[in-house]
Amino acid sequence: MNGIKILFKEKLSRFYALFLIFLIPVLIIANSLWRINVYQNNMNQELTNKTQIVAAILSSSISDISTNIDTLQQKLVSIKQANKEIDEINFLRSSDVGFSIANSTNSENQGVIISDADLAKINTSGQPLVRSYVDKSQKPQKRFWLAANPVKSADGSTMGILTVRINTDEIDAISRTTITQSLVLLVFTVFIVFLLLINYFRFFEYFVNFRKIQQLDKMKDEFISMVSHEVKTPLATVKGYLDMMFQGLIGKYDENTRQHLQKISANINRLDILVSELLDVSRLEQERMQFDMQPADASKVIANVINEIGDQAKNKGLTLEHNVPKQLPPVFVDPDRLHQVVENLVGNAIKYTPSGKISIDYVLDKGDLKISVKDTGIGMSVEDSKRLFERFYRIKNEKTTDISGTGLGLWISKTIANHMNGDIVFESKENVGSKFTLILPFIKE
Ligand SMILES: Nc1ncnc2c1ncn2[C@@H]1O[C@H](COP(=O)(O)OP(=O)(O)O)[C@@H](O)[C@H]1O
Ligand SMILES: [Mg+2]
Repeated sequence: MNGIKILFKEKLSRFYALFLIFLIPVLIIANSLWRINVYQNNMNQELTNKTQIVAAILSSSISDISTNIDTLQQKLVSIKQANKEIDEINFLRSSDVGFSIANSTNSENQGVIISDADLAKINTSGQPLVRSYVDKSQKPQKRFWLAANPVKSADGSTMGILTVRINTDEIDAISRTTITQSLVLLVFTVFIVFLLLINYFRFFEYFVNFRKIQQLDKMKDEFISMVSHEVKTPLATVKGYLDMMFQGLIGKYDENTRQHLQKISANINRLDILVSELLDVSRLEQERMQFDMQPADASKVIANVINEIGDQAKNKGLTLEHNVPKQLPPVFVDPDRLHQVVENLVGNAIKYTPSGKISIDYVLDKGDLKISVKDTGIGMSVEDSKRLFERFYRIKNEKTTDISGTGLGLWISKTIANHMNGDIVFESKENVGSKFTLILPFIKE
């Protein structure tokens, strides 16, 4: 059920990402095109106004000479020559058949009769008119603005209509370049956004994978926890029976059988340690390990550890030096967990020291109690020691091949120390020895 939910969520998020990849560029394009359209409309409005003003000024400037055809003709020609934007000026008079062109800067227009509803409207209403049109007969096509303005005499009567044709070549060219530049910029922007989105999509994939890995990791933890628990019970039963056999409670054995039993027992112990360490790892990772924190004397814990595993050192012919007084300033810890950490450090020292000495010392340093376990063992190189506190990490060389272990002890110890507000540090030299120091803040009076 959970799986289906996750799958659905994943599908949905993927769809969402794809949706964004298309939607965002489309929105950018739409916005730019809309902006260009607004710009063009504004431009046209601006041109309409300008054309109107030009036409209005011209009509008022010719109103007093409009009766004199020759003077008017000269004036219109000179105005056109002075302004290259002005393409054509006509002066129309109303007649019975429509409007006849009385004066024109274009000699071909002279005398042409035009019947146009718009012109009639201007004549009657006295209101000017501006419009743009495209001259398709010219190649390339040309856009013009045409303003038609009534020319009024001093008494207000309409004497004729002045039409001014303005070509907007230059302005249109500027508009075209502006629009082209905007479009190029648009393509560029969309391209970059597209790249960014693709990147986002990839990042998103990583995120999905990361979540999957997290889930797998959790499943692995649960699996380890389950298996360890299941193995622990039969192991305890086997150990119980072995103990009874050693105590002679189940019959008698000759020396040979006893040696075999001892081998079985040693291997069962190894298995037991492995399972315990796996359980500790899963408890620590899932934050399920209980810490019964209380003030405790570390010297008692150290004495207990030595009591328990001191024999292992003796059996290997190692000297175990114990330089810790009977009482130390109290530390705030879980005594059982502290026992486990010290046992681990001393156990390692015994395990990785073929001959020589192991010494346990202490220092009080600025509110910290530092307990060190120093050995004259195989030590380790700087390179090998880099990953020392990682789970399952064991240094592999000819000196360690015959020593069994899981590579979990130091990780567990350091994590437990951290949980008790402490830490573990170390120094080591290959073939000389190692010194592991457990640091715990002591309780101040
Ligand atoms: N006192 C030590 N001297 C030399 N090497 C050590 C010592 N303690 C730990 N190591 C190295 O660190 C590795 C990890 O230690 P640990 O986590 O206790 O795992 P394990 O003892 O099960 O191998 C060991 O395999 C060993 O190579
Ligand atoms: Mg160990």
